[in-house]
Amino acid sequence: MNLKINSFEQYKEQHQNSISDPATFWDGIAQTFSWQKPYDTVCDWDFQKPDVKWFLGGVVNITENALDRHLPKRANQPAIIWEPNEPNSEHSTLTYQELHDQVCQFANALKSKGIVKGDRIILYMPMLPELAIAVLACARIGAIHSVVFAGFSANAMADRINDAQAKMVVTSDGLNRGAKQVGIKEIVDEALTKCTSIESVIVYQCTETAVEMKDGRDYWWHDAINGTNKICPAEPMDADDMLFILYTSGSTGKPKGVVHTHGGYMVYTAYSFQNVFQYEEGDVYWCTADIGWITGHSYIVYGPLLSGATTMMFEGIPTFPDAGRFWQVCEKHKVNQFYTAPTAIRALMGYGDDLVSQYDLSSLKVLGTVGEPINEEAWHWYHKLVGKEKCPVVDTWWQTETGGILISGLGNHSPMKPTFAGYPLPGIQPVLLDQEGKEITEDNVEGYLCIKHPWPSILRTTYGDHERCRVTYFSHYKNHYFTGDGARRDENGMYRIIGRVDDVINVSGHRFGTAEIENAINANSRVIESAVVAYPHDVKGQGIYAYVVCDGVVADEDAARLSIIETVNTEIGKIAKPEKIQFVSGLPKTRSGKIMRRILRKVAEGEPDKLGDTSTLLDPGVVSKIIEGGL
Ligand code: PRX
Repeated sequence: MNLKINSFEQYKEQHQNSISDPATFWDGIAQTFSWQKPYDTVCDWDFQKPDVKWFLGGVVNITENALDRHLPKRANQPAIIWEPNEPNSEHSTLTYQELHDQVCQFANALKSKGIVKGDRIILYMPMLPELAIAVLACARIGAIHSVVFAGFSANAMADRINDAQAKMVVTSDGLNRGAKQVGIKEIVDEALTKCTSIESVIVYQCTETAVEMKDGRDYWWHDAINGTNKICPAEPMDADDMLFILYTSGSTGKPKGVVHTHGGYMVYTAYSFQNVFQYEEGDVYWCTADIGWITGHSYIVYGPLLSGATTMMFEGIPTFPDAGRFWQVCEKHKVNQFYTAPTAIRALMGYGDDLVSQYDLSSLKVLGTVGEPINEEAWHWYHKLVGKEKCPVVDTWWQTETGGILISGLGNHSPMKPTFAGYPLPGIQPVLLDQEGKEITEDNVEGYLCIKHPWPSILRTTYGDHERCRVTYFSHYKNHYFTGDGARRDENGMYRIIGRVDDVINVSGHRFGTAEIENAINANSRVIESAVVAYPHDVKGQGIYAYVVCDGVVADEDAARLSIIETVNTEIGKIAKPEKIQFVSGLPKTRSGKIMRRILRKVAEGEPDKLGDTSTLLDPGVVSKIIEGGL
């Protein structure tokens, strides 16, 4: 299967074709997959409702395309290479045949525990091959997986379980993270005290730490698969049947379950993977994300496996045993495509160049970044030191909701400009809109980034609340999908993503809603109210700055800060830790009670002299006190 574009000229031609006749364009791509029953209609859509369907009438199972289809040619080719946390431990490899067999075995185990098509299963696991196996096993039988990043707290997991009304959790006893081990089964146990829908828990033995196993509810993975068959027919799925739910934060307090489906997601993740990374036969591709995020779903598991690629999974962290680990692993496995986040690049830059230079990185062909804007300095360091100026850097812009990469370079087949994501992939029609929703057609402009035609992996709904999907993405600008990002288009039509224009904060490439963090902070018994904004952070891109009003004077501020951080750990997880907490006597509010975040943002950014108009404030005196107490 080869869906690859081979030159910028060819890209321009394909993009033009994809705009003038999207159905014919996508039909050409979709035909290369194996369908249990061919589709009748390529796309039917209405952004007002929204109601978007791709490959209508088609019956397909994504795992047949990611596994079975490759067996005649690739049975013995590595599908997954797994590199452990501990550099001295053995790495492991699963061939396509082995992966197929293990997916089928686990799928049969799920069935034997009563899981049927349409059931929701929460996966809360370390970066082990078994996580990919569990993901694919769910898809195999038509169960809907919802992976929860194993850094989220018990409360955050319980919210997701309850929203999805999930029937099963798959987890492990513990996980290895650098020099630490974290018990995660106990976090599941705590979450389940707040949930009634879960009937069973499957536990993979990873750290071999002692855990409590509840009789009749908890089963060991190795017992569950014992004696199961290596054959499990792929469940026939309508192209738009749900494949997975992935929870992501928005501008309200409650994360929403973004829904992707079998057919469209399959076509787009494979197509974008092959083009952006220009994967070639025999290459070893490595994406350092966690499968708990969309990047791991689309570009560790589905995109690469659908393309018959060899994909690497890494259990560890970039700084263990030292900050040269990424490069040591690249050398060891002769990695050809390397895909990571700007935050990791910025963190590693700080440790000096020797940790990179000592490794042989000559296998690298393409470098990628994702998740947040990359600053110029980090871009050049990556390009020069890691890529030796011979590897294109693909700055890939996309979102949980888009399912796949929408704006990016295509290996070395498109022009590259530091900090610019570049051009839209074929099939993608971005536009910039002004405040009034009018399209800005000139170049060298900035505006709200929207997309005016669906692509196959656009989200279909938010689980259990379609209205929320409509309001969040399709109500701001008529007949457009609104991304929540602001962007710039230069004189050559290249796009640069500026950042979120809504109340979403992007910390180390992870999304949080300001309201979500405020809710967590407000759960602390001493807190009356709080307001959270982002401020520029050298490594994380953005840091969380919280203004907190407590019940009376805070005598010991350090202790109160620790207590609030602990509350946020409990409510969301350590990844949402507020970097700065300022105690204030009141928040700047308008007469109607709305918090003026613009003012708080300016103070957090260290620009209190640029507050702008404060005349609409109920009590302007509050502002000077905040500035005086600024951190
Ligand atoms: O603001 C954009 C930023 O990350 C947001 C999407 O976050 P999430 O759904 O968690 O997905 C992250 C991984 C795909 C976007 O709205 N973002 C993502 N990629 C880039 C980016 N900002 C700038 N440049 C990028 N390449």
